[in-house]
Amino acid sequence: MIMFWCQQTFSTLLLLVLSLFLTFPKSEAKYQPTWESLDARPLPGWYDNGKIGIFIHWGVFSVPAYSSEWFWWSWKGQPTLAVVEYMLNNYRPDFTYADFGPMFKAEFYDPNKWAALFKKAGAKYIVLVSKHHEGFTNWPSSYSWNWNAMDVGPKRDLVGELTQAIRNKTDIKFGLYHSMFEWFHPLFKKDQANGFHTQEFVKAKTMPELYEIVNKYKPEVVWSDGEWMASDKYWNSPEFIAWLYNDR
Ligand SMILES: *[C@@H]1O[C@H](CO)[C@@H](O)[C@H](O)[C@H]1NC(C)=O
Repeated sequence: MIMFWCQQTFSTLLLLVLSLFLTFPKSEAKYQPTWESLDARPLPGWYDNGKIGIFIHWGVFSVPAYSSEWFWWSWKGQPTLAVVEYMLNNYRPDFTYADFGPMFKAEFYDPNKWAALFKKAGAKYIVLVSKHHEGFTNWPSSYSWNWNAMDVGPKRDLVGELTQAIRNKTDIKFGLYHSMFEWFHPLFKKDQANGFHTQEFVKAKTMPELYEIVNKYKPEVVWSDGEWMASDKYWNSPEFIAWLYNDR
């Protein structure tokens, strides 16, 4: 069920490694929303020195557990024969990707066992996929109505439970991966059709979600992905990172 990192996904990755809790007085905005200013921030020592980190891909794509976390894209976006045939051979003809949602039950999910295993493996940090390009949020997001782990499938806060277990039982740093774009989200597709001159998706989805996971789970790494089709201006990345560095 756990898919470890897939090379393909990360080829065009924008990596934002952000250590939180290096708090500064709020009045003193240390970092400006420019890359020059943001890039001047030193990499946290624990990240630089940590030799083992564990990256966890887990989501609705774990139900077919075939191909990769890009399953939906390989089926409907840019169809590949193997995935198309896999669906034809194993699922009824009118099956949709959303139908995998209720089948994602996480019935054997024991976050305390995961924490113990990660500790035993010598991991200094972990990064959990909070949402991949399919858009399903592994936490009960207010911005992903009926396409999140509390409303559909596990009926649990997968992110919150792991955060707690890691912090209760280990001194492992806890990180979250988050995909900014979503393959088939109508607002993303609309912005895309507008040549990314509109930001409806960013304002309604990406940014609210990022603020939500940071405020709620206080991750020590925000591993941001899925930016490659549009500019940092479209995504509001420098503004978000400046907020993260200055205020969190
Ligand atoms: C972590 O500790 C808190 C406080 O003791 C407890 O309420 C919570 O259930 C624990 N979480 C896990 C996943 O063990």
